[in-house]
Amino acid sequence: MTHADAKAVESALAFWAEAGVDACYADQPVDRLAEGAARLKAKAVTPRVVATAAPAARQAAPDVSGAVEQARAMAAEALTLEALAAAIAAFDGCGLKFEGAKQAVFSRGAADAPVMVIGEGPGGEEDARGEPFVGKAGQLLDRMLEAAGLKDRVFITNTVFWRPPGNRTPTLAEQAVCAPFLHRAIALVQPKMLLLAGGAAAKSVLQREEGILTLRGRWFEWHDEDGTVLPALPTLHPAFLLRQPAAKKKAWLDLLTLTERLDRPGRPD
Ligand code: URA
Repeated sequence: MTHADAKAVESALAFWAEAGVDACYADQPVDRLAEGAARLKAKAVTPRVVATAAPAARQAAPDVSGAVEQARAMAAEALTLEALAAAIAAFDGCGLKFEGAKQAVFSRGAADAPVMVIGEGPGGEEDARGEPFVGKAGQLLDRMLEAAGLKDRVFITNTVFWRPPGNRTPTLAEQAVCAPFLHRAIALVQPKMLLLAGGAAAKSVLQREEGILTLRGRWFEWHDEDGTVLPALPTLHPAFLLRQPAAKKKAWLDLLTLTERLDRPGRPD
């Protein structure tokens, strides 16, 4: 390999790493460009198929009930946030732990915060530092929370506690397995309300199927099995706002909606 080749490889790898592609799924590389070219060639000679075959059966969701039970038992034993963080770190029931994550990422912020911010899952920076929302998206979130007067009034966590490889969206099964720990965190912090950052968090916490653009800015009720009911407000994810700065206005309106309810005299709910 020439020096120029090595530089080209380095540059391509840096590009993919920046885009979040930092994990290998297979032992052997796959040349997708060659695959695509072959498919194009085949398409050029194959007559268009009009009748379609029956759609492939949906892949059955994995049975994670055992892991959920185990998470419930471990979460219930945690009487403090420190104990809960240790329980999460010791839990082996979430596959993400074994897909390249460096460590468990649980929370940051005030232990008695009136607002709990729940994001999707840790990214690369969070995985490296062991704290949620400390990368670029987290910095934007912090600036927004500060501007809304919420800087020291939030406890920040995620729906899953290990970084999904390549920053993919966590699966519903991964979120379900981590949910008992999230619910225990809510029980220990006792926030007055939840702010759900992004579609993956909003859908999983509220068990809804609509997209975030439909859900955001509207109040929902979050119900725990023990009868706890909390107001929950979905909003746009800060990573989305970094890509679509024009949407910041909507997220800002959501924060104002939240602070108005939080600071409403006498009756936060
Ligand atoms: N995105 C999230 O949803 N959570 C984090 O902790 C970081 C980025």
